[in-house]
Amino acid sequence: MKILFLNGPNLNLLGTREPDKYGSQTLLNIENFIRKEAVNMGIEIDFYQSNIEGELVDKIQQAKGVYDGIVMNPAAYTHTSVAIRDALLGVCIPTVEIHLSNIHTREDFRKISLTAPACIGQITGFGANSYKLGLIAIKDYLNSL
Ligand code: DQA
Repeated sequence: MKILFLNGPNLNLLGTREPDKYGSQTLLNIENFIRKEAVNMGIEIDFYQSNIEGELVDKIQQAKGVYDGIVMNPAAYTHTSVAIRDALLGVCIPTVEIHLSNIHTREDFRKISLTAPACIGQITGFGANSYKLGLIAIKDYLNSL
C-alpha cells in the first residue's frame, strides 16, 4: 500500500507558526513520526509540501496509478480551492482530509471546507496526531475495499 501525504501553504512554518493553534512540532518532526508509524504498519509513504495551489493540483493528478490513497492537509486552500477539490474528484483516489486544529471551533470561514466533499472523511483537531489518525483511517478504508 502506497500513501501520499500532501501539505498545503504555510505548513512549512510549523514549529514557529502560531504554536498555540498548531503546536510546536515542525513539519519534519511530523514527517519523521509518520514515517516510523508507516514502517510499523507496512505502508510506503511519500510526504510533500507546497505553498502553491497548482503544484498541489499537479501532485494529485500525478498520483493516479501511483498511490492507493492520499492523506491531505490542504491548509488555507481547504477553504478556497475549487481546483484542489476538482483534482481530487478527477483522479478518484480515496483521500482523507486532516487538520491540526479543529477548524469547526475557529472563525466561520474556516468551518467551510471546499475539499472535504471530495474526501472519504475528515479528521480535525488532534494536532500532529491527526496525521497518524489519517494514516490509520486511509489504511483501514483501503483494506476494507
Ligand atoms: C489547518 C487549518 C487551516 O484553516 C489553516 O489555514 C492552516 C492549517 C490546520 O491544520 O489546522 O493552515 O489546515
